[in-house]
Amino acid sequence: MSAALEKKIEALRAKIRHHEHRYYVLDDPEITDAEFDKLMNELKKLESEHLELITPDSPTQRVGGKPREGFVKVRHSSPMLSLDNAYSEEELRDWERRVHELSGRNDVEYMCELKLDGMSLALHYLGGQLVRGVTRGDGSEGEDVTSNVRTVRSIPLSIAKEKLKKAGIPAEFEVRGEMLMPLAAFRRMNEEREKQGLSQFANPRNATAGTVRQLEPSITAQRRMDFFGYLLLKDGRTYFDRQSKAMDAMEAAGFKVNPHRKLAKNLGEVWAFIQNWEGKRDSLPYEIDGIVVKVDRTALQQELGFTGKAPRWAIAYKYAARGAVTQIENIVPQVGRTGKLTPVAWLKPVPIGGTTVSRATLHNMDEIERLGVKIGDWVEVERGGDVIPKVVQVVEDKDHPRGDKQFEMPAHCPVCGGNVVRTEGEVDHRCVNANCPAKLQGTILHFASRHVMDIDGLGEALVSQLTERGLVKNVADLYRLTKDDLLKLERMGDKSAQNVLDEIAASKKLPLKRIIYGLGIRFVGERTAQFLAEHFGSLDAVMKASAEELEEVNEVGPRIAESIVEFFADEHNRKLVDDLREARLNFTGEKKEKGTKLAGKTFVLTGTLVRHTRDGAKKMIEDAGGRVSGSVSKKTDYVVAGSDAGSKLDKARELGVAVIGEEEMEGLVGSQQRE
Ligand code: IVH
Repeated sequence: MSAALEKKIEALRAKIRHHEHRYYVLDDPEITDAEFDKLMNELKKLESEHLELITPDSPTQRVGGKPREGFVKVRHSSPMLSLDNAYSEEELRDWERRVHELSGRNDVEYMCELKLDGMSLALHYLGGQLVRGVTRGDGSEGEDVTSNVRTVRSIPLSIAKEKLKKAGIPAEFEVRGEMLMPLAAFRRMNEEREKQGLSQFANPRNATAGTVRQLEPSITAQRRMDFFGYLLLKDGRTYFDRQSKAMDAMEAAGFKVNPHRKLAKNLGEVWAFIQNWEGKRDSLPYEIDGIVVKVDRTALQQELGFTGKAPRWAIAYKYAARGAVTQIENIVPQVGRTGKLTPVAWLKPVPIGGTTVSRATLHNMDEIERLGVKIGDWVEVERGGDVIPKVVQVVEDKDHPRGDKQFEMPAHCPVCGGNVVRTEGEVDHRCVNANCPAKLQGTILHFASRHVMDIDGLGEALVSQLTERGLVKNVADLYRLTKDDLLKLERMGDKSAQNVLDEIAASKKLPLKRIIYGLGIRFVGERTAQFLAEHFGSLDAVMKASAEELEEVNEVGPRIAESIVEFFADEHNRKLVDDLREARLNFTGEKKEKGTKLAGKTFVLTGTLVRHTRDGAKKMIEDAGGRVSGSVSKKTDYVVAGSDAGSKLDKARELGVAVIGEEEMEGLVGSQQRE
């Protein structure tokens, strides 16, 4: 094979690695996503023509290999220790006193770092190439999760020798750090899971652990994990003479290193850092549970050494959990749109971090068993960053006696009396009655929601009136509602009735993918609905498709295919589709041609978007005829700013460019789609 071609491919890879680093590590891309995709496609094409030139560190090889059967155990180069905790300033001062005594010095500098709440991982590099990623496991031995680790885009697969040299890092080294799931990704994942009728992850940490140990790397890839390095080792030992230097070196080599760190000259500065972040922790796009304080000098660290399981040279200051102890007054199953019964703990109301909490989820029967919780128990309840409050553990002491009433899942649905079934191999109990009103209300609310048919004004209060009075028995009935029907309802005047009717009428023009999503087929989320619409081009074709044909669609596996076939095999569902057709909803083709409303308009996306992925937002804008650029200039029309937006936001303000949020962006695009 020609050396020139090999060189060309390697140069292209280097270029792509550079842009991956700009985007995923620095969050500051220099080129647009389209330009990036173009480079990637060029590389894919060259590699497909010269399979022998594919290398494992190629940016095209992040998601590779087949699902695994399990993970192989690997011994760590040196134990992965945990940290001792401090819960007060006094405990921190006690720790400092021991550091002074044992080292015989009083002028100790400390590195302060955020205590990221994910899962620790060890990454091994050989000749600048990522060769292995290992979980902490029991500290001495972890599991080889390399194929999953490779899918995390902020983890470099390979680092140029010169770059390592410049950073002062040897070609063979180990980076230990924290893998985590950003809150935005966590919320989106849980929302999707909810809509697909899957069980929820209780917090980002659990979601991270579940994702890292996923047997299918493609699933890990979809979940958009992140990784921050915090230790650099060679042969199991600290390599640099200061922790602060190790952090800077990792950063220079292209790792993501948390920017919120500080080299403190004394404990007073450490305490100021701790207090500063306690107030600001909610503004971060990921969860932290404290601050890690490390003696900066390696020589001093070595003098201080270790106790049994933790170093004496570092300590974790833990923030008070946003939790409280209260009593469970009852446990009540709540029926969702998919018929899932979620046991909810009704609590004696208790204030946690500014809000009163009176309900907490117990997720499912497995969780109730795991916690061993009974009605009447006192429990610790925690509220994470914006996550539904949850029961963490049962509290038992002389002031908090145990409860004695066991909760059992009812055999019949509390809403409709239908049978409740737990399918073998599933954690959830479900009401199997297709006409259960709880399902009906949930289904209609889902159908009317912004991402589906976007029928503004059709909220909980209205939907419960419509279903209770029998005016709406399925989503097609919405299109038969008359003004007279609506005027009979409570709190409904002429104007609001007309608004609701106008909204319902406008929804008829929405694209096919929305209807498919709106039908509420189990496991069919927003993305799958879009792929189905694009693949089949009409609802009739989706309806007629066999399981095998459905499996040809992007991201549709046997489970989803079977669920779709089952849905359309049901006579009620087929009738529903006929009724929707009669109401003249949009049953054919996603419009492929681009809109023109945003023609000539340039957008820049920055910060963490919550409602859309970057790619999704970009597609929306482009579909409406707009352009998405990587950097802000005078020619930019709008900057769409998510949370934690940085320099681009400043630049936009400086240049007087309009800054909008995600909803405003949807507005600009949505008005286009309705025309
Ligand atoms: S240093 C011996 N630095 O906290 C040094 N750990 O309780 C041990 N963690 O298992 C790790 N952020 O998962 C270190 N900046 C940070 C950290 C951090 C989070 C986690 C890590 C570790 C646990 C220790």
